[in-house]
Amino acid sequence: MVRVLTYGTFDLLHYGHINLLKRAKELGDYLIVALSTDDFNELKGKRAFHDYETRKIMLEAVRYVDLVIPEKKWEQKIDDINTYKVDICVMGSDWKNSDKFDYLKDYCELKFLDRTEGISTTKIKEELGSD
Ligand code: CTP
Repeated sequence: MVRVLTYGTFDLLHYGHINLLKRAKELGDYLIVALSTDDFNELKGKRAFHDYETRKIMLEAVRYVDLVIPEKKWEQKIDDINTYKVDICVMGSDWKNSDKFDYLKDYCELKFLDRTEGISTTKIKEELGSD
């Protein structure tokens, strides 16, 4: 059983998210999503349209997602990897050229998946004129 873990806000769930989740799941057998809480988003300077519970319900309805856990702080990743016996940690390619997550390589495999072009929550908000 290969267990995969990824992180994010997943607000206004869109096909870029679905594409990421599908590819993350294909790397293993069990996909865990650590979903940013509303407080953590605030810390990151982000405000989601949907609150945590709503975003969680939507993610849980996605066939590729096996478990949703809260992402409350930057420093929880090693704990998550140990608690959920994670084999592969997946990050968006936005982080590919950064060494921010290199420390995770001591605990599991680290993979970066390319973003889907032309879509983001920010773009949806901008185009709907509500950002
Ligand atoms: N993602 C992706 N392709 C996109 C948008 C997001 O692969 N077009 C991935 C991100 O790389 C990340 C996950 O989906 O691994 C969750 O990203 P999130 O930041 O929640 O979504 P964005 O649409 O990027 O949101 P925002 O515009 O607020 O940054």
